[in-house]
Amino acid sequence: MKFLIINGPNLNLLGIREPDIYGAETLEDIKIWLDAQPESNGHDITWFQSNHEGDLVDQIQSARNLFDGIIINPAALTHYSISIRDAISAIKTPTIEVHLSDINSRENFRKISVIQDVCIDQISGLGKQGYLEALKTLLHYI
Ligand code: DQA
Repeated sequence: MKFLIINGPNLNLLGIREPDIYGAETLEDIKIWLDAQPESNGHDITWFQSNHEGDLVDQIQSARNLFDGIIINPAALTHYSISIRDAISAIKTPTIEVHLSDINSRENFRKISVIQDVCIDQISGLGKQGYLEALKTLLHYI
């Protein structure tokens, strides 16, 4: 199956960005780690990262009919991007929301996710393991 993993603003800085919150690994380290997990075997997994909301919307739209599922960490856009929510809702591709940190135990503004109810699940606070849990959930769901 084909999966798309989308990461939003500032996740390109993983490894140097607040490592006490987000860990010491880069996005590339997480990608290599996920590729090496048995659950990834035989699947085609594409990663995309952008700091720009419109690029993320374009990527979600172009995933329609091309991918079996999407894993998305919209980063800060989680909390206010109605355009990302609408794109996920429009394409109907099963989508899981992932956050490295536990957004429910941080600042109040992070407790709000405007995409949560258009996703089939939200996984938060498991670090890189969250991406694997999301993949397992999608494989089970599909
Ligand atoms: C994040 C949580 C967001 O609140 C934050 O803006 C991020 C990363 C996470 O993975 O924990 O950039 O999505």
